Amino acid sequence: MTRSQPNLAFAEIDWDGASEGVEPLATIHPYPARFISLIPDSLLGQFSKPGMNVLDPFCGSGTTLTSALRAGCSATGIDLHPIACLISRVKTRSYGDDELHNIRAHAGMPIASQVVSRDLVSAIPKVDHWFGLEVQQALRDIVLHIELCESLNEREALMCALSRIIVRVSRQESDTRYAAIEKSIAYDDVIAQFRRSVADLCSSLFAGRIPAGPEAMILNRDILGIEPSDLRGPFDLVITSPPYPNAYEYWLYHKYRMYWLGYDPLFVREREIGARPHYFKKNHQTAEDFERQMHHLFGLLKAVTTPEAPLCFVISDSIIHGVTVDNRALMGRAAAGHGYRLKEATLRRIPYTRKAFNPRVSPRNSEHVLVFERGVAS
Ligand SMILES: C[S@@+](CC[C@H](N)C(=O)[O-])C[C@H]1O[C@@H](n2cnc3c(N)ncnc32)[C@H](O)[C@@H]1O
Repeated sequence: MTRSQPNLAFAEIDWDGASEGVEPLATIHPYPARFISLIPDSLLGQFSKPGMNVLDPFCGSGTTLTSALRAGCSATGIDLHPIACLISRVKTRSYGDDELHNIRAHAGMPIASQVVSRDLVSAIPKVDHWFGLEVQQALRDIVLHIELCESLNEREALMCALSRIIVRVSRQESDTRYAAIEKSIAYDDVIAQFRRSVADLCSSLFAGRIPAGPEAMILNRDILGIEPSDLRGPFDLVITSPPYPNAYEYWLYHKYRMYWLGYDPLFVREREIGARPHYFKKNHQTAEDFERQMHHLFGLLKAVTTPEAPLCFVISDSIIHGVTVDNRALMGRAAAGHGYRLKEATLRRIPYTRKAFNPRVSPRNSEHVLVFERGVAS
């Protein structure tokens, strides 16, 4: 399943030529700025051996983790975002036939309609603005249906299937457009969409089955609050893509998913590195703040990796208040502060069709692939 190009030197790898859709688990849930699996596959092909311990400190939807498990490595991921961790857990589990069969069975099960109660929905701000009344009732019934499942793996797969449809059944125009538009969606439409989502999710889990082995460790934490003792190091390889300053708001993208699934979006909003609002409020953050956060990260990585471990980063430049920030140079300074030096670097072109970012805040037609290693004297 690995699509790396292991016999090529780093500079010879076709970083631009990635084709999507090969990894069946890639699309089990939308996720902004997700890796194409070619990136972790190629880095694993360059730097990993089976049995190695791989870390992604911003694991998002778990692309590095699935690639690492397929390459025979152990995998640890950290992400602030509970939806990211949910997707990563669902993706990285090694399911048995019976388990997948049981999950799929929910695509055909009746969903009991409960007496209308406002308990769950009353905690959701502007719920009547974003969700029709029948949609609210259906979502609430699905949430209660999921809560009744005894198996954690089953419950989380169903939560993932529900999360996939939340924006579609809301009045939000699309995943990346936050305007409310009128959609006529009835109770039965929501139930039908949930059933289809369960069936589709199961097909992807069947097709992309992760080989049996140790489970990935996934921590739903703020990376800036992680202590080395929280992790099962030492790690032999780090592959990650940090949140680019002022480029995106992961919490906003998943805000209503979090409310319906019982998570707290405000906790995420306050701690999210790089989130756009941090760069616009009074006393707003700057590129220097991001550099300090990355400096902190390199300190943590130094404490939890082996001296030989390559630290691989994928990052675009940012635009903050009209000024382009050279994130390759910024990461270089943050790394150098802990005795790391740039070993490999390339600029990968991103095909236009994958351009999910606003060009005013990120020149997202290219991204740097950077590999740092510890200097001899450090
Ligand atoms: C570029 S995305 C990673 C995408 C990932 N490579 C994938 O394939 O899905 C950056 C991630 O950093 C996470 N993040 C932002 N602030 C964080 C923080 N303070 N601690 C941990 N994770 C954070 C975001 O939730 C997001 O998932």
